[in-house]
Amino acid sequence: MGRPEKIFYAVILRSSRSTRKMRISLGLLRSDVMLETKCKNNPRAYSSWKQVEVNTIASGFGHLGPASKAVQSFVMRELGHADKIKNMPDNNALSGICDGMIKSWELYGNPGAVILFIVEVITYNICDQRFHEFYIRDQCPKVQVLRRTLTQVFKEGKLGSNKELLLGEHEVAVIYFRAGYEPAHYPSQDEWDARYMMECSRAIKCPSIHYHLAGTKKVQQALAQPAMLERFLNDPEQVKTVKEIFTGLYALDDTEAGNAAYEMALQEPERFVLKPQREGGGNNIYGVDIPDALRKMNRVERAAWILMDLIQPPISKGYMIRPDNKYAPELVDLVSELGIFGVIIGDVDNIICNYQAGHMLRTKLSTANEGGVAAGLGALDSPYLLD
Ligand SMILES: Nc1ncnc2c1ncn2[C@@H]1O[C@H](COP(=O)(O)OP(=O)(O)OP(=O)(O)O)[C@@H](O)[C@H]1O
Ligand SMILES: [Mg+2]
Repeated sequence: MGRPEKIFYAVILRSSRSTRKMRISLGLLRSDVMLETKCKNNPRAYSSWKQVEVNTIASGFGHLGPASKAVQSFVMRELGHADKIKNMPDNNALSGICDGMIKSWELYGNPGAVILFIVEVITYNICDQRFHEFYIRDQCPKVQVLRRTLTQVFKEGKLGSNKELLLGEHEVAVIYFRAGYEPAHYPSQDEWDARYMMECSRAIKCPSIHYHLAGTKKVQQALAQPAMLERFLNDPEQVKTVKEIFTGLYALDDTEAGNAAYEMALQEPERFVLKPQREGGGNNIYGVDIPDALRKMNRVERAAWILMDLIQPPISKGYMIRPDNKYAPELVDLVSELGIFGVIIGDVDNIICNYQAGHMLRTKLSTANEGGVAAGLGALDSPYLLD
């Protein structure tokens, strides 16, 4: 693990200890799944859904998921296929996610308090993100939404006598982190101090540090180990169903199992993807690049990564419309990844809300490793259900 990540985990563990008397947390999650198939060229010959990961911080495309359905419905209507629009499932992602924020704001119990969005200095996905704010303002005009960077929170913020987070004259009820998930979001100690102050405050965090940590690849790998789900789920049928969605996830620490996984990755790298404890895409190492990367790490560094079976999704043919298309789009081989949004609100003893909240579908060139909508290899899409 590099230095910024080390500091990151030190800080979040420190604040985790200080907020052990848990208050309510808000989770706006996105579980990313792919259909796995043994016959790549037949989209119908899939075997099961496999989870790529669960995002617990800054889960994006809550607006553009539903917007894709609206765009594609329009195109289908224009092409004379209006009868087929019914095969695209309803998508209530934006309202589902934002209702979770509004519910948390109500639970906080101060009608004068605001919802705070923590944003990057430059928000590249502003066309997705701002619609959350617009929805909240539209549905609940009495709720004010503020957007601040971590640096601004450091400068403007303080804790009140009852651990209220105060930004100028505003008390903050809910903090929605759309930034703060990667070391570059913390260019100085100020941003770490801002995060620590927010974590110590009584505002409802999305995510709390606990939920943030639960979204790390390491925790997801640990959850997939034998007997681990049984610690959290009582119903054996539920355990079985959840387990089926996990693909092979392996620790690479200096244990017998970890060293065996290391050897396996060197022998057959094309079967795997190597993942660090990072978010935001572009950090994984795929297939034949794995041995070189692993050989450069010592045993301690290696333990900060996990190894995962590569999921083989079915290939379908389609056209991808992108702003950089210079010519008419070509028919290309594509694979898709579905993200299912979920909202959970609760404290250490109680679950107050727990519901599914719509979806987003990303489709990318079959040759691309990562999701890559921002990187230019993928596009937003909508599921089309077949019998
Ligand atoms: N096991 C896998 N099999 C196939 N593709 C994978 C696998 N793991 C990751 N990918 C691809 O790489 C992308 C990024 O991986 P992952 O989601 O684990 O990283 P991330 O940094 O958390 O990305 P994000 O910003 O989407 O949250 C996925 O969206 C998927 O397209
Ligand atoms: Mg992620």
